[in-house]
Amino acid sequence: MAAQNLPGTVGTITNGQPDPNAVLDVQELRVHYETPGGAVIAVNGVSFKVRRGETMGLVGESGCGKTTAAMAVLHMVQPPGRIVGGHIFINGTDIVPLSEAELREFRWRQAALIPQGAMNSLNPVMKVRDQIGDGIETHEGKQPKDVLKRRILDLFGTVGLSSRVYDLYPHELSGGMKQRVCIAMAIALNPPLVIADEPTSALDVVVQRIIAQTLLEVKARLNVSMILIGHDMGLQAQLVDRIAVMYAGNMAEIAPVKSAFAEPMHPYTQLLIASIPSIKHKKPLKVTEGLTHDLRNPPPGCMFQLRCPRAMDVCRQVRPPLRELKPDHQVACHLYA
Ligand SMILES: Nc1ncnc2c1ncn2[C@@H]1O[C@H](COP(=O)(O)OP(=O)(O)OP(=O)(O)O)[C@@H](O)[C@H]1O
Ligand code: SF4
Ligand SMILES: [Mg+2]
Repeated sequence: MAAQNLPGTVGTITNGQPDPNAVLDVQELRVHYETPGGAVIAVNGVSFKVRRGETMGLVGESGCGKTTAAMAVLHMVQPPGRIVGGHIFINGTDIVPLSEAELREFRWRQAALIPQGAMNSLNPVMKVRDQIGDGIETHEGKQPKDVLKRRILDLFGTVGLSSRVYDLYPHELSGGMKQRVCIAMAIALNPPLVIADEPTSALDVVVQRIIAQTLLEVKARLNVSMILIGHDMGLQAQLVDRIAVMYAGNMAEIAPVKSAFAEPMHPYTQLLIASIPSIKHKKPLKVTEGLTHDLRNPPPGCMFQLRCPRAMDVCRQVRPPLRELKPDHQVACHLYA
C-alpha cells in the first residue's frame, strides 16, 4: 500500500536518490503497527544518513521509535508492524522493495543489528561457538571445522574475548562477555554497517564503558559505520560523531555531536542536554514531563507541542519539516522558520 501523507506532514530534504557518500540513506521512512485500536504510527516520515566510517548516535525517550527504525533498516519489523513508505538505501540499493529471499542475502552481509536485549536472547542450550558458527554457515554454507574455529577465535580476538569462551554456554558468561558474543555475531560477516540497539543498557556502569570502548575499537579495526542507539547522553557525547534526536516517531534534530551539545536548537534536544546531571554545577532539573500524543492519532502540527515551553500557534497546525539550518545541522522546529 502506498504511504499516506499524514495531517500536517510536510516534505523534507530528500529526493528519492541515494547519497553516494552515505552507507545508509533513510528517506521519509514510515512504519506502522496495525492494532485493533488503529495504526500506531511509530516512525512518521523519518530521514537520516550514516556516512562511511562514522558513528551516529540515535537518542530519544522510550517509545519514540528508535528500535522500530533500526529494525526497519534491516527490513525486520515484526508483524503487526510494517514499512508503509519511504526509502532505505544501503550502499545505494533501496531495500524496501526487496523480496524476502533477496533480503536474506543482504542482511548481516550489508548491515547487521545487535538487537535490544540481545545478550538475554542467546540460546541457553547452545555453546557460544555453535551459535556463532551456525550464523556464519547459514550465510556462507558448510565450512571445514578448523577454518570455522579459526574464524570464530579471530572474532573473539577482535571483541576482546578469551579463547576459553569457545566451549562455554551463555549462562557461564558475565553480562559484558555475553554482549561481546553478540558483537562478534554481528560482525561475523564483515558488514559495512552495524546497528547497536542499546548495547550497554543492561550492564553496570563500569562494564558499560568497557563495552562501549570495545565497540569503538571494533569500529576502528574493521572500518565499519555504526549506529549507536541509547539513552545515556554522556556516553553518546564520548562515542558518536553525529547525533540524531527522535521524538514521538519524528526526527527532531541531527547535528555533529559537538554542536548538538554546545548549541542544541530543538527545544526537546535543549531539554535533554539540560537534564544531564553535573556534580560541579548543581542545577534544578529542567524536565518537562507533560503529555505525549497518542501515536495512533497524531495531531496536526508538531508532536512536541504539548511539552514545548515555546509552542506557538503554527506549531498546532503544521508539522515542522527537518531542514538544514546550519552546515550539517538539521532541525525540525518552527522557531527557525
Ligand atoms: N508490536 C507492537 N504493536 C503495537 N505497537 C508497538 C509494537 N512495538 C512497538 N510499538 C509501539 O511503537 C512505538 C515505538 O516503539 P519502539 O520500541 O521502536 O521505541 P524505542 O524508542 O525503541 O523505545 P525504548 O527506548 O523503550 O526501547 C511505541 O509507541 C510502541 O508502543
Ligand atoms: S515546532 Fe513549535 S512546538 Fe515544536 S519544538 Fe518547535 S517551537 Fe516547540
Ligand atoms: Mg528500543
